Amino acid sequence: MANPPSKTESLDVTGYGFSQDDLPELDHGPLDLRTWFKFERTAQAEGPGAGFDLEIGSGKGTFLVQQAGLEPEVDFLGVEWSKKFWRLAADRARRHGLGNVRLLWADATVFVRNYVADEALRRVHIYFPDPWPKARHNKRRSVQAPFLRELHRVLQPGGEIRLATDHADYFQWMQEHAAQVEDLFERRPFERPASAGEGELVGTNFERKYIREGREFQAMILVKRDPGR
Ligand SMILES: C[S@@+](CC[C@H](N)C(=O)[O-])C[C@H]1O[C@@H](n2cnc3c(N)ncnc32)[C@H](O)[C@@H]1O
Repeated sequence: MANPPSKTESLDVTGYGFSQDDLPELDHGPLDLRTWFKFERTAQAEGPGAGFDLEIGSGKGTFLVQQAGLEPEVDFLGVEWSKKFWRLAADRARRHGLGNVRLLWADATVFVRNYVADEALRRVHIYFPDPWPKARHNKRRSVQAPFLRELHRVLQPGGEIRLATDHADYFQWMQEHAAQVEDLFERRPFERPASAGEGELVGTNFERKYIREGREFQAMILVKRDPGR
């Protein structure tokens, strides 16, 4: 007899959760990602302040759900490779009726490299990425110079990468890799999103857990330089 579906497998992600299995072949070229969002959003999504944000490793979707409600003119796509978290986040966005939030189950580095068009994004959010602390695993870290170059390609001029971590060694690594691409990005101090609660940097699930553990956080913003300057 087949096993009953797990709790997250029975969640409803219809219309909110997209899967890597539904993506075209890797050599397909960039996708028009705005078509993933509700049709009736189109007018608003093209108005003043409109934008398209990507979150890499969105976990249970706390940042997306909190921030998307405050910026209805911005579309937010969260990419998450844990199927369980992806389902939880997509179901949450659906229950909140957030027409401007979608979740993709995929490896974000593969997704960005193959499917995101040049200058498509306003902001990329990477909050508390997996630190891969062992030296032999460091190369698995999402934030590294080659991927920062890829993010430079998909960001609009003046677009931002927003980074936060609780891991001192990873933050040091982030700074070193950001320095390797300093011709592409200007580093700026972090600015908390409007949705962050009192005493919070961003207000993600992991941040709340780490606050309780007394961990310290570090964060920064990398702004895509204007090539004309
Ligand atoms: C430490 S958790 C942080 C989750 C969330 N940002 C938060 O702060 O609550 C890191 C998350 O990133 C996801 N992740 C790591 N690398 C990824 C990748 N290349 N593509 C998509 N998701 C990734 C993991 O599955 C995990 O859910």
